[in-house]
Amino acid sequence: MTAHPFDLLTVDQLRHNGSLKWTEYPGTLGAWVAEMDFGTAPGIIEAAQQTLASGLTGYAPTSLIRDMQQSTSQWLDARFGWKVESEHIRPINSVAAALDAAIMHFSPKRRPDAPLVLLTPAYMPFISAASRFGRISKQVAMLQTETGWELDWTALEQALGGGALLVLVNPHNPIGKVYSREELQRISLLVEATGSRVFSDEIHAPLVYSGSTHVPYASISAIAAGHSITAVAASKAFNLPGLKCAQLVLTNDVDRTVWSRVGDVPEHAAANVGLAATTAAYRTGSGWLDGVIDYLDASRILLGRLIAEHLPQVKYQAPQGTYLAWLDFSRLALEPNPAQFFLTEAQVALTSGNACGKGGSGFVRLNFATPGPVLAGMIHRMGAAVDGCDKFDATDPEFAS
Ligand SMILES: Cc1ncc(COP(=O)(O)O)c(C=O)c1O
Repeated sequence: MTAHPFDLLTVDQLRHNGSLKWTEYPGTLGAWVAEMDFGTAPGIIEAAQQTLASGLTGYAPTSLIRDMQQSTSQWLDARFGWKVESEHIRPINSVAAALDAAIMHFSPKRRPDAPLVLLTPAYMPFISAASRFGRISKQVAMLQTETGWELDWTALEQALGGGALLVLVNPHNPIGKVYSREELQRISLLVEATGSRVFSDEIHAPLVYSGSTHVPYASISAIAAGHSITAVAASKAFNLPGLKCAQLVLTNDVDRTVWSRVGDVPEHAAANVGLAATTAAYRTGSGWLDGVIDYLDASRILLGRLIAEHLPQVKYQAPQGTYLAWLDFSRLALEPNPAQFFLTEAQVALTSGNACGKGGSGFVRLNFATPGPVLAGMIHRMGAAVDGCDKFDATDPEFAS
């Protein structure tokens, strides 16, 4: 059998390419920040190059924005069956900026200083988002069962009481949960009953594996569309976060009126190359993406096998979406915490669960969007570090992947 082209990428090449993941902690294997090691789709590279070759280095021409809006609208319909008018899709530079906009402009009407409600473990920068605006956040810890993750409905209802801005990340980074339609319905009833609002971060939506289906929150009912704003982007699925383009989807008249007053500056922050790359991703990238999803699907299974072999004390439930694995090392009591332990003892750079809020202690987030042999090298090293807790030769080919 011939090797998959991604399997042939080496650590040396990845370091040489110079991405953040592979250069921030020199000499380590990079499994932390959410970047993929597989480049991006050829049509996207062509579109980005064409943007520069055409001299589009000034402000964004209306046609570039219109193309992005139309292609996003077609993509959302084709991929998720969600019909959105292209005018209601607004450019912005990033999903992080979209959350900031939501906090500033789309909090519950009768409680403009409403707390943020986060479902934890949460995407790390969201933990401190509220405090940047002088607001508080309430963390509602997700419950892990033998079959997956569930919401703590009582705690959620309490946290939303009096009105709040619920940050719903679906698929859920870092636990990889894809919320079912029934769960979204039940969330929407609680949100509506408490006069709350939802910021639905669907940046990982295209990265869902067989057995799960992404349902856009705002698509489930007029009620959900009325109290939510959604952020989507091609940036995770097509590996484009450095090109600075995301999309804010506004699904009710009131929010569109507000945005027409306040949206000018954030809209101008979207980059021309990012707009063109997004259009190319949505119009021409499906085949490339489907190949990547197949590869990642195999990787999440491979990861389970590797963990069973080299780290049998670790609990791992394969994610339903995203290329992030949430690994429970709590049985091992690694000091000072698992991420720091593996950085120094195994030279593997991971994200510490401590950065993800309530329920994160004892866990690490591992990014498995990396070549299979590199993934095997990471887990092999981590297993060796746990077993002996002794130093090993990281240049030994067995460990270097
Ligand atoms: C759930 C989630 N939201 C937002 C972001 C940040 O996206 P952006 O770079 O568009 O701000 C990430 C990045 O990994 C993410 O995983």
